[in-house]
Amino acid sequence: MPTLTSPSTDVKTFQHLILQGIPDNLPALKPFDASLNHAPKRKEILNPAEKKLAIRNALRYFSEKHHEVLAKEFAEELKTYGRIYMYRFRPDYKIYARPVHDYPHQSLQAAAIMHMLSNNLDYAVAQHPHELITYGGNGAVFQNWAQYLLTMQYLASMTDEQTLVLYSGHPMGLFPSHKDAPRLVVTNGMMIPNYSKPDDWERFNALGVTQYGQMTAGSFMYIGPQGIVHGTTITVMNAARKIAPTEEGRKGKLFISCGLGGMSGAQPKAAKIAGLVAIVAEINPKATHTRHSQGWVDEVYDDLAVLIKRVRKAQANKEAVSIAYQGNVVDLWERIIAENMQVDIGSDQTSLHNPWAGGYYPVGISYEESNRMMAEYPEQFKKEVQKTLLRHANAVNTLAAKGMYFFDYGNAFLLEAGKAGADIFKADGSFKYPSYVQDILGPMCFDYGFGPFRWVCTSANAKDLETTDKLALEVMEAMYKEAPEEIKQQLSDNILWIKDAMHNNLVVGSQARILYADSEGRIKIAEAINKAIADGRISAPVVLGRDHHDVSGTDSPYRETSNIYDGSRFTADMAVHNFVGDGFRGATWISLHNGGGVGWGEVINGGFGMVLDGSADSDRRLKSMLFWDVNNGIARRSWARNKEAIFAIKREMQRTPQLKVTLPNLVDDTLLDSLKF
Ligand SMILES: NC(=O)c1ccc[n+]([C@@H]2O[C@H](COP(=O)([O-])OP(=O)(O)OC[C@H]3O[C@@H](n4cnc5c(N)ncnc54)[C@H](O)[C@@H]3O)[C@@H](O)[C@H]2O)c1
Repeated sequence: MPTLTSPSTDVKTFQHLILQGIPDNLPALKPFDASLNHAPKRKEILNPAEKKLAIRNALRYFSEKHHEVLAKEFAEELKTYGRIYMYRFRPDYKIYARPVHDYPHQSLQAAAIMHMLSNNLDYAVAQHPHELITYGGNGAVFQNWAQYLLTMQYLASMTDEQTLVLYSGHPMGLFPSHKDAPRLVVTNGMMIPNYSKPDDWERFNALGVTQYGQMTAGSFMYIGPQGIVHGTTITVMNAARKIAPTEEGRKGKLFISCGLGGMSGAQPKAAKIAGLVAIVAEINPKATHTRHSQGWVDEVYDDLAVLIKRVRKAQANKEAVSIAYQGNVVDLWERIIAENMQVDIGSDQTSLHNPWAGGYYPVGISYEESNRMMAEYPEQFKKEVQKTLLRHANAVNTLAAKGMYFFDYGNAFLLEAGKAGADIFKADGSFKYPSYVQDILGPMCFDYGFGPFRWVCTSANAKDLETTDKLALEVMEAMYKEAPEEIKQQLSDNILWIKDAMHNNLVVGSQARILYADSEGRIKIAEAINKAIADGRISAPVVLGRDHHDVSGTDSPYRETSNIYDGSRFTADMAVHNFVGDGFRGATWISLHNGGGVGWGEVINGGFGMVLDGSADSDRRLKSMLFWDVNNGIARRSWARNKEAIFAIKREMQRTPQLKVTLPNLVDDTLLDSLKF
């Protein structure tokens, strides 16, 4: 394996290019590569003066001698794609999570950050790699290639006495700090609250001054589809347990949903693991093909008559099978009703956090025509989307009246259907259907402190990952023996998961693993990994992190915090506290984002990355930071009177005498009901 001390020519060239940053001579213009998935053209939103400003902004990265060429080129990009990506500066080397020592560096922590951010841009991982989008249609790592080149150069040259600051992808620079400070502070899309509507994103992103970082895209924490397979399996399995507690009882039950994209593509695989018959609709043939060729969905049909026949047979035979419908989901739902079929579980995972720019496709209009319409006739497109949402919600209502258990999958389906005028509200103004967090993940996982803990072996060596799996299994098996009844199910689901993880070939991109653990589990696994790095059983640093779909860190009233009922779900204090608190407890990088999952202006989330290098410093940091990172959220959930969280925080206070959390006093309902207003 090439290392810094004996670099092969290839690695040497790569290192030279990283240290060079933005090249002084213009690289050759690159042809548009139609074989790749590209971001849809963004709608035209800037007026002529703003267009000039966008180009003036973009030219800030380049020496004046190139302005004449680049000004015209960027104007053309803005016209053609609605954004300035600076395609010419896309590097020729392959971007992927290289072994950490291949990155030129003065700080090993900074090299680990390069490993992580490179993974987010790997062609095998990213949704629109040339537009620097990792997932969700608009989840950006950077706004343009100049930002990438400059950031890599800063990371490669910085020391452990400096901190790099990123404003929505733009590297503001390196600032003197100290070795216990984060090496990197990232914010994405932080706006003055009144300027946080979807069109504000369109305008300010087109101007080049902000970006939508989603969650793990802009925080360099994406680990490919594995994270989502795990979360979706836990969700669908627990949804199935709600309608049929036994494995036998679940056989032949029908699950219907939509989306075979970045995250949604995990649904058929998860439903099959849960033993169900699953139909998942997908309008984009490329997405269907990808998931089918990866084996994530077993069979594909574009003819509804043939599909229905196949589904009836699968139900009769009690097969666990996943079936894709190549077409619009509303056509599927309406056909199911016309056939008088019973659906057991229903959901939806179109990208409704992004309804007007490719997240949701109207029925009765071809995929290509929709893509044209959203760019050229955005108002008409919006009307078509809303008409479709009404039909979609009506179909859900009809089937729910016949007994279907429907849950919102955190994609803003109910939010957007409601805005379109659909009949999805109860008399008190709340939604008729629960979100998957309200019914499933909130009470069963988050309130107990269980959430998506992940780690990445920066050696890029699968053997190291195998070692970490074994360590995690040992930790969880030991915990299971001592665990209270309330969390045994969580532990046993995750023990099973980690046992099968290696055989299930879940790695795409970096050598990463995810499981759900509480603060005790996260700390014990991290400690075990740190020790194994120290004594050489693991060959290079390991990065710890989480996605934001967790106990703590994310304030998202229609998703992560949708099961907070004291009115505080529309506040964002928790996310900010996680971000800041992780920063001074030893995180290697911290990130704060507006948007992610449910949409710009609808959520604030804070995340972290932590590099373990086997040192005593790492041991101190991991204990302090992971404890806070989880328990901040449990404290907040317990203050909201969630009974599982009150149980979890009391248990933690017994284990940790220094922890003192304010507990709520509960009021008798009859007392409140007797009050006259
Ligand atoms: N999986 C999870 O655990 C999870 C959790 C929370 C939220 N979400 C949300 O789920 C949504 C989907 O995420 P993603 O990464 O898969 O996005 P994506 O854009 O990659 O995939 C969505 C897919 O839906 C398809 N689609 C849109 N409208 C359709 C229609 N009318 N009929 C058929 N197909 C249609 C699109 O072609 C696309 O492939 C996002 O809003 C995300 O935030 C997912």
